[in-house]
Parts: sequence; C-alpha cells; structure tokens
Amino acid sequence: MNESLPVAIIGAGRIGRQHAKWYQAAGCRVVGFLGSSEESVGRTQAALHEMLGVTIPGYTDFERLISETRPVAVSVCSPHALHCQHVLQAVDAGVAILCEKPLAWDEEKPLAEILLDARRMVAAAEKKQVLLAMNAQYVAGLPAYMEWYAQVRGPLDRPSRYEAVMQSRGRGGGAEYRDIWIDLGSHPLSLIVKWSPGVHIEPGSIHCVLRRKEVVADFRCVAANGNVCDCSIRLGNVPEGKLERRFGVNGFLLDYEGRNNPEGVFHTYLSHGGEEREYPDLLLMSIEAFVRAVRGEGEPLISGAEGLRNLELQVEILEHAVVEQGAAD
Ligand SMILES: NC(=O)c1ccc[n+]([C@@H]2O[C@H](COP(=O)([O-])OP(=O)(O)OC[C@H]3O[C@@H](n4cnc5c(N)ncnc54)[C@H](OP(=O)(O)O)[C@@H]3O)[C@@H](O)[C@H]2O)c1
Repeated sequence: MNESLPVAIIGAGRIGRQHAKWYQAAGCRVVGFLGSSEESVGRTQAALHEMLGVTIPGYTDFERLISETRPVAVSVCSPHALHCQHVLQAVDAGVAILCEKPLAWDEEKPLAEILLDARRMVAAAEKKQVLLAMNAQYVAGLPAYMEWYAQVRGPLDRPSRYEAVMQSRGRGGGAEYRDIWIDLGSHPLSLIVKWSPGVHIEPGSIHCVLRRKEVVADFRCVAANGNVCDCSIRLGNVPEGKLERRFGVNGFLLDYEGRNNPEGVFHTYLSHGGEEREYPDLLLMSIEAFVRAVRGEGEPLISGAEGLRNLELQVEILEHAVVEQGAAD
C-alpha cells in the first residue's frame, strides 16, 4: 500500500488500538483518535505512543477531530451503543467507515429499535455514497479455509452443515447469557452470510439456549439459491486456559489460534488433523481489504448491507432464545 492514507480511530480502546497498529502496518497514517474524556484521551495517547512510536492527537469532540486531522477514513471502535451515533457523524463528514461488529447494539433499546438504527446507518451511507464496511475479521480466513478444504475434499460445492465454536474471556471477564451472544454472535454469523448469500433462517428452526457461560444456537438457513444448511454455533466465556475457536462446513473444521510468531508479530494459525499453517492476522487482512476499498481498488470484506443482514440474524436468533439456569446460578 504505497501512498499513506490518513485514518482516525473512533475509540482507541481494546480493539481500536489493534486497528491503529494494523493501519500503520498497512502503510496508513493514524492522524487522530476520539475518546470520552481529556483524562482518558491522555492515557490512550501514551498507550498508542508506546505501541506505535508516534504521538497521535486525541480529541473528545468528533467534529474537531475531523476538521483538524482530515482523515479520509475512520474505524468506529467505540462501545456498541455509540456505533450508530459515530457512524452517522462520519457519514455527515463524508469519510469512509469501518465499523466494528455488531453494526449497532444498545442494551437500553428494544431489539426492533436497534435494527432501525442499523438500517438508518446503511441508508445514510448509501444516500451520501460513503463507503460503510463492518469488521468481523474471521471472514478474512475464508480463502485459506477454501484452499485447505479443496486440497483435502475437492472443491466445495454446497455447504450443508455449518459449525462454529468460539470462546473468549468475555468483556471484562464477565459476559453471561445474552451478553455472550451480543459480544460474539456476529463472528460466526459473518461466515454464514458469506457462505449463504441472501440467507434467511427457516421459520421454526431456531433452538437457542443462553446459559451463564455458554450460548448454543442451532438453526437451519436457506440461501437465495435455495441451498439449505444446518447451522450450529457454540459460544463460551471461559476465564482461563486455551480458547477453543473452530469453524467449517460439511464436517471439515479448522482450529483458529492468534499468537505472536517468533519475530513477535501477531499472526493467525489455522490447524487441522495435526497440521498447522501460518497466515497474517485476520484483522490486518480485514483492514487491508478496507483500505483497498477506500482507494477504489476492491471491496471490503463485509459491506454495510452484509453487516445489517448479520445483525438481523443475530436479533432473530436472540428473539427465539431461552434462558437455562444451572444449579449454581
Ligand atoms: N472484532 C473483534 O474481534 C472485536 C474485539 C473486541 C471488541 N470488538 C468490538 O469493538 C467495539 C469496542 O470494544 P472494545 O472492547 O475495544 O471496547 P473498549 O476497550 O471499552 O474501548 C472503547 C473505546 O471507545 C471509547 N469511548 C467510549 N465512550 C466514548 C465516547 N462517548 N466518545 C468517544 N469515545 C468513547 C473509549 O475511549 P476512552 O478510553 O477515552 O473512554 C475507548 O477507547 C465493540 O463494539 C466490540 O464489539 C470487536
């Protein structure tokens, strides 16, 4: 990526700092970031300096950030409930947007209103012809998956069964019940949306159980071409130990791990049947695809419309979920 693209990070917290790191690695210039208070902005600036070796101006006012640093693109990495506000502000400013998953979510709002927010975001971007993309980086692993699948099984014709397992430490270690689904659900759904274009869920097929530390969702999805695929998603919040992350179709599953390579660079490792292969970090690949799209040289991994479809599925499944409390709860 030759000429350096000026980008800003809206919320340089846990994932926002990773966006900043990978923008820099992709040859972009991080020209500013937004935070919630003067004090927290100071802390973030020091953390970014240590990470990137440059002092990046921090702001608490969105319009000032845009007018003084003039980014061409922003990553919206603020908490879910602020995605809608920040994306609409970015659309107004006419800058390209990579919004973290889920496209929108506000615990204070009914589910129908969350969907309305997301539809407003996509419609506003379309109307102003601003690029809106969503980040759910596992989609970046699909070409590697397809290549591996083809080597072992031959070309993938039709996915008939989709499986995903994803564990995390949970937000602040404490995500439970529906919060696990809100936090992690968009990742496996992003793969389903890619694998089954135009997907809808077969009515009556959803069985979703919310447990204190685990969410299990089984449902049947139908693609626009009529292909039917049974989907099984298991999400968990585990406090310690190796995280299980696995995905695939038709029983061919790859395990995912993200860790530093011997040079200290965070990479993706996919494994199957005792064999492990190394790839660039999936978030880096997502950001590179977004940067190419901003330059008019390709498509982002997940468009705003696909991010909206993802959210619609996430909401639909949650609407059918039942809570199952264990003896210890
Ligand atoms: N793709 C992934 O793998 C992945 C992983 C983690 C999170 N995420 C998503 O990324 C988003 C952020 O999650 P996170 O874990 O990074 O959260 P986080 O660590 O809490 O960071 C949130 C950031 O938003 C900023 N912020 C909060 N209120 C703000 C306000 N009123 N105005 C401007 N900035 C504000 C915070 O700035 P201050 O510090 O200044 O308050 C902080 O930098 C969520 O939507 C989450 O789902 C995605």
